[in-house]
Amino acid sequence: MSAQSSVSDQQKRPAVKSTPTAAGGYLLQFAQTLNDEQHDCLIKEIAGIDFDRITALFAAKDVKDAGLKLANSAGAPTKLIPTDIATKNPAEFKRAEEAGWKALREGRVGIILVAGGEGTRLGFPHPKGQFPIGPVSNKSLFQLLAEQTVAISQRSRTRIPYYVMTSEATHVETVAFFEQHQYFGLDPADVRFFRQGNMPAVDQKSGRVLMAATHSVAFSPDGHGGLLEAMSNARIFDDIQDREIEYLFYHQVDNPLVRVCDPAFIGFHLLNRSDVSTKVVRKEDPNEKVGLLVEVNGRHHIIEYTDLPPDLAAQRDPTGELRLRCGNIAVHLFRSDFLKRMAEDEESLPYHRSSKSVPYVDDLGELVQPAENNAFKFERFIFDILPQAERPLAMEVVREQEFMPLKNREGLFSPDHVRQAMCQLHTSWLKQAGWTTADELPIEIPAAAALDAADFLARHHRR
Ligand code: UD1
Repeated sequence: MSAQSSVSDQQKRPAVKSTPTAAGGYLLQFAQTLNDEQHDCLIKEIAGIDFDRITALFAAKDVKDAGLKLANSAGAPTKLIPTDIATKNPAEFKRAEEAGWKALREGRVGIILVAGGEGTRLGFPHPKGQFPIGPVSNKSLFQLLAEQTVAISQRSRTRIPYYVMTSEATHVETVAFFEQHQYFGLDPADVRFFRQGNMPAVDQKSGRVLMAATHSVAFSPDGHGGLLEAMSNARIFDDIQDREIEYLFYHQVDNPLVRVCDPAFIGFHLLNRSDVSTKVVRKEDPNEKVGLLVEVNGRHHIIEYTDLPPDLAAQRDPTGELRLRCGNIAVHLFRSDFLKRMAEDEESLPYHRSSKSVPYVDDLGELVQPAENNAFKFERFIFDILPQAERPLAMEVVREQEFMPLKNREGLFSPDHVRQAMCQLHTSWLKQAGWTTADELPIEIPAAAALDAADFLARHHRR
């Protein structure tokens, strides 16, 4: 279908009123065919594009090359809290856990949730956070995560600010969803939604910005690294300062097993005086799509799975384990002053370029659905600030207890897989506390009842 055909009454259309920039002049080629509203929208979109940056990014070498070099010289993180720390060194674990609870009680911890993604891969045309996933309750990802915050906040008798990053595509629906569900028990005064930015897609051959329609540019979200700019634009750092928040717990919307504000994790981080701490799981399958946390010269880096050649991903050490095996579960704790410093430096994060198939309007105004990758998209990743962090720390956690992200429609990391993992985990809590259950019965334990196995045991032990 011709994208032009949606515009009616061609004769009355205004002529081009202004050319915002010579660099993007070609984006106005259909200006004569647009109505006033479309024309104004397009002008606004073009005015927001930094063409010099786009040109430089198109010309620059992809940061993938740097990732490859890194992988060759990388080793495992030296400061890695092991999974069995609570039994191996109970005194140290207790000290960390208590320090974490103290920071929570003193109101020094805030939460960042990145929720700019949609459920497209799941065939769910809404913000991914709205996906119903509770195996018994059918609660959404948003609800399961928010309820953990409510529970932690009640236990520590404190307010925990909840900063939710949305995108152009998810913002309005996300805010409405929280309102419709009374913020899942959170105090609306503690919740701030803010939109991440966009980047235009460019033609892979010419570097020209692509148009999604005759009156609009083909934009997509600028990656979760857009967090820094988005937080600054929305004055979130002012709120953080006003509330005297020192630590920010960062997580993604897709993992319902995440331990929101895990007190031990917070405690280890603050006792170590780290700028950034990261939770990891042991990667066993070389093909698993997780980034890898590595250390080079005392600095942490995350090498994204897309940047790691298969032979390096499959290398094993003499014990038979993967050489690079600290899988990134996208859970970090940031010192808030470190994050602010990174946000003040425009160059703190590089752009990653990825080759994608992006529908576009050609010079005849026809919408083209390319069969192959035709475009570059540019994204920033928040974990690229890690190398700038002093005293970085890593904490390995048990995969079955803390990591089961919802990614795919079927198979691994599908809704069924995630629900099954939640049931298995919660059933194991019941069993550890001396309860018996019918194995086929789906079990889901709400955050208000317990936050983890130890917590469940302490509160619901069967005498
Ligand atoms: C991501 C990590 C990977 C990690 C894995 C764990 C990146 C680049 N990679 O991979 O290292 O091992 O998760 O599950 O992040 N999001 C935004 N805005 C954006 C892009 C993403 O808010 O512009 C949010 C999404 O809502 C989602 C999260 O970031 O919650 C992850 O994005 P996704 O594209 O699903 O990352 P993965 O490729 O799975």
